[in-house]
Amino acid sequence: MLEVTGLKKAFGKLTVVDDVSTTVAGGEAMGIMGPNGAGKSTFFDLLAGATRADAGTVRLAGQDISTLPTEARVEQGLARAFQIPKPFASLSVREHLELAAVAGAGLGSNEARLEAETVMDRTGLADLANETGNGLRLLDRKRLELAKALATRPRVILLDEISGGLTEHEVHELIALVLDLKTPDLAILWIEHIAHALKEACDKIMMLHLGAKIIEDTPDAVTSDSRVRELYLGAANHA
Ligand SMILES: Nc1ncnc2c1ncn2[C@@H]1O[C@H](COP(=O)(O)OP(=O)(O)O)[C@@H](O)[C@H]1O
Ligand SMILES: [Mg+2]
Repeated sequence: MLEVTGLKKAFGKLTVVDDVSTTVAGGEAMGIMGPNGAGKSTFFDLLAGATRADAGTVRLAGQDISTLPTEARVEQGLARAFQIPKPFASLSVREHLELAAVAGAGLGSNEARLEAETVMDRTGLADLANETGNGLRLLDRKRLELAKALATRPRVILLDEISGGLTEHEVHELIALVLDLKTPDLAILWIEHIAHALKEACDKIMMLHLGAKIIEDTPDAVTSDSRVRELYLGAANHA
């Protein structure tokens, strides 16, 4: 579903994404790990078109989207959920999702209403349909962030450290939600610091360090790799 080839980005002399290639199939979830500053979020910026790549191509369902602006990539089926959800204070959950369905998936208002209902059911927000953005607790704001991405009817979804600030119990709810997103027509990419979350939810994990891909393999192979343990897990244990 997603095919990335030779993606590169430098800010001045600092190479932040260094010749990264990978593929994620429909129905597959790929976790992305790496120390702070490894280039993970910039990698997502390049996929989403928020930042222009210096080199490389991004293909979505076979189509080259490398030169498209962000909105056009969303229309093509690329959705992104951010670490810090910023819902509109006075819009209801339902209104957020209807807007996303209209703007991102190009649905008419009746279809968008139905889509909002479907997505609320999928993400456990049905009871909060009329709650406004500023009335939601953190976990529900995260659910809404995911739900907004889903309402654009994506083929690829990018999740950037969505578990930040959650309790252990809430992280488990989020993992269940991500597992539930796995369907044959959706590819999931999930940046996360919590290795066990990626282990539980992902089919494979890619590790970035100084912008370059160090390893991409099954969660077990990656978390037991000596370079990964040294770079990341060791550091996390000392944090
Ligand atoms: N717009 C920018 N201008 C200059 N440097 C940037 C910019 N965005 C990110 N960087 C630098 O790129 C590196 C990677 O950042 P980032 O992709 O946010 O890493 P990660 O998400 O893995 O923590 C960092 O050194 C960061 O300071
Ligand atoms: Mg980041």
